[in-house]
Amino acid sequence: MSTATAGKGLEGIVAANSGICWIDGDAGILSYRGIDIHELASHSTFEETAYLLWFGHLPNANELKDFSLSLAEARVLDDKIIDLLRSFPKTATPMEVLRTAVSALSLYDADELDNTHDANVRKAFRLTAQVAMIVAVYDRLRKGKPVIEADTSLTHAGNFLWMLTGEKPSETATRTLDIALILHADHELNASTFAARVIAATLSDIHSAVTGAIGALKGPLHGGANEAVMRMLFAIDKAGADPVEYVKQMLADKKKVSGFGHRVYKTEDPRATHLRRMSEQLSKDSGVTKWYDWSRKIELYINAEKKLNANVDFYSASTYTTLGIDVDLFTPIFAVSRIAGWSAHVIEQLDDNRLIRPRAEYIGPAYPSPYVPLAQRG
Ligand SMILES: CC(C)(COP(=O)(O)OP(=O)(O)OC[C@H]1O[C@@H](n2cnc3c(N)ncnc32)[C@H](O)[C@@H]1OP(=O)(O)O)[C@@H](O)C(=O)NCCC(=O)NCCS
Repeated sequence: MSTATAGKGLEGIVAANSGICWIDGDAGILSYRGIDIHELASHSTFEETAYLLWFGHLPNANELKDFSLSLAEARVLDDKIIDLLRSFPKTATPMEVLRTAVSALSLYDADELDNTHDANVRKAFRLTAQVAMIVAVYDRLRKGKPVIEADTSLTHAGNFLWMLTGEKPSETATRTLDIALILHADHELNASTFAARVIAATLSDIHSAVTGAIGALKGPLHGGANEAVMRMLFAIDKAGADPVEYVKQMLADKKKVSGFGHRVYKTEDPRATHLRRMSEQLSKDSGVTKWYDWSRKIELYINAEKKLNANVDFYSASTYTTLGIDVDLFTPIFAVSRIAGWSAHVIEQLDDNRLIRPRAEYIGPAYPSPYVPLAQRG
């Protein structure tokens, strides 16, 4: 069989057939199962979007009701998982904790050894409910607060905020998070989803695939960028610096400004459009305007100077901060949503599987190189 060499970082390489997500990076189009992300962000919910991703079509009213109920009923965490979360050092980051706890979930999952389509769908429900619970429960534990029981009458977004804060969330907070979850739910062969598909394709299992995906999401070039954006805004605040001068210096130091640039989008990331709008609205409503105002100034400068657009992570930072969410929960919240996409991709991969095993372009010493006996080596 012939081989072809891919560019660094597999740029532009088509590595799978998939019917889940379509992106036109030049036109700034993102769609799930053919439906434009702007339509979904305006009219849909996380539950409906997850249904769409998993089952390939929008649910009718009964299907949506059943789906939402099944997802709510899947909000069960084995006591052993809560004990495990309790045992972690309070200094552990929520993303490390999530990665480790998701791996442990398989030990308590009745379908652990079953890789059939139906078992994977059942595990997708449980994982989607449990990822959100783990993030909320660990945050309570590390702050010495009591764990809050899940409320099955609330939506995925509402229940997450409830379990995190112990207070019934406002409609604004719930809808804002719900839209953020819709926007983050899938993104074709992004690094974490590709990792998940590679793991699933070995006929491992969905928990292993999602554990690997969380590890990939954690990095600052991927999901970790939303935390990095907020840490930059905090650093600007602490230094009493001018935001534009601050990023100017970053560029002069050859540093990347988190929240800008994208491998696929050459124009505005359509998800950023909604997050910018929500960030602006929340800043007006709350009266805390500096995070949005500084973000906007930075965006205009980077746009003009580097021709780089804000990506999904840039305005997530000010949006979540204005909602009162801690910085190190931003990337875990990305996972609270992306679990829907990872699940859809693992199910799709296993429905028509072939091992994913590319080749490397060898650039090491020429073959055959001599094996020099130990005694003769300098
Ligand atoms: C997303 C990202 C990893 C895409 O990377 P990529 O496709 O490999 O693109 P590159 O890193 O090769 O960048 C291409 C050029 O744009 C510059 N660039 C890209 N993103 C930049 C950023 N955020 N700040 C400053 N310069 C940036 C690079 O320095 C490079 O310039 P050069 O050709 O002069 O060396 C990259 O844009 C980035 O690191 N962004 C910041 C992290 C981030 O927000 N990640 C979340 C993505 S949703």
